[in-house]
Amino acid sequence: MTKYIYSILYKAVSTCNLDKSEILYLLKTEENAKIFSAADKVRKEHVGDKVHLRALIEFSNYCKQNCLYCGLRRGNAKVTRYRLDPQEIINLAKKAAEYGYKTIVLQSGEDLYYTIDRMSKIISEIKKFDTAVTLSIGEKTFEEYKAYREAGADRYLLRIETTDEVLYDKLNPGMSLKNRMRCLEDIKRLGYEVGSGIMVGLPGQTIESIAKDIIYLKSIPVDMAGIGPFIYHPDTPIEKTEGNCFELALKVMAILRLLMPDINIPATTAMETLNPNGRLIALQCGANVVMPNATETAYRKHYEIYPGKICIGDSPKHCRFCIENKIKSINRNVAESKGYHRSNS
Ligand code: 5AD
Ligand code: SF4
Ligand code: FES
Repeated sequence: MTKYIYSILYKAVSTCNLDKSEILYLLKTEENAKIFSAADKVRKEHVGDKVHLRALIEFSNYCKQNCLYCGLRRGNAKVTRYRLDPQEIINLAKKAAEYGYKTIVLQSGEDLYYTIDRMSKIISEIKKFDTAVTLSIGEKTFEEYKAYREAGADRYLLRIETTDEVLYDKLNPGMSLKNRMRCLEDIKRLGYEVGSGIMVGLPGQTIESIAKDIIYLKSIPVDMAGIGPFIYHPDTPIEKTEGNCFELALKVMAILRLLMPDINIPATTAMETLNPNGRLIALQCGANVVMPNATETAYRKHYEIYPGKICIGDSPKHCRFCIENKIKSINRNVAESKGYHRSNS
């Protein structure tokens, strides 16, 4: 008799659809290796062996929000705050483009210093380096998203974090799940490639809600899905969780690959924080993207969303070559294209 897990995996691979009870079965089973190997095969077949690199520039750690899980929350007085001048950001992006990056990701807390004018100027200058530009700067109005899109931004990352409304509203004081979903709808409507995702292992999060998160991400549908394990930060008021959610995060990622075979999926930095080989493992369980840090070394230690972040003492140049060597060590290669979702299919 065929084992039940094989029938679910067969259904996933042949239809790209699973109902909630089947997703739950995969999330609960201990037969993870079978899921990982199916996701790796699907990744190879649909997006190939190339790995897309996205240069991450953490340009400001000021944030007006107070998310309970995040080290950059405005209530954390221990953070040394910094923000880069527009020209410094542009210079860093230029350097990243010279290192061969085809996508620049601009990430910050929700920092009001960067007005529409300032942000638009930064985006349009960086676009001159012939790279794709991704923004990861939080919740904005439709008008702001529209202005950035018109300035040339190609993609937007905004994780939904969790679709459990009670949990979301508790973890994100002053914010709401409804507004976050509105943001993602606006981003989609404006023609950005949409990146979203969740954290896995949040205190109070259930397997049931993770199954719903997966269904939500597919319903958008996202062009990119970033899944990271939650890592407790001692300078935040959130409850401490026991145990390592690396495997579960990996599994959520692998299930997304099965259900959305041609999207971009990063091997997230948080995975490598919990496992010294986390990114390479993720690349072999469905991921096809890595986002190396391209922030100047001096600022890195202050962008402490969670403790133990990798590459804190390293330079943009070092990370660029380090990651390429790692990728080659698993017989994969760095892609030379900009890596749009559209061109994957
Ligand atoms: N552990 C892991 N990831 C975190 N993020 C925020 N705080 C933490 C944490 N303690 C993630 C969120 C956010 C992204 C930039 O970082 O998912 O969207
Ligand atoms: Fe700010 Fe983002 Fe951290 Fe929330 S997760 S406090 S919005 S940087
Ligand atoms: Fe930064 Fe390896 S990617 S040190």
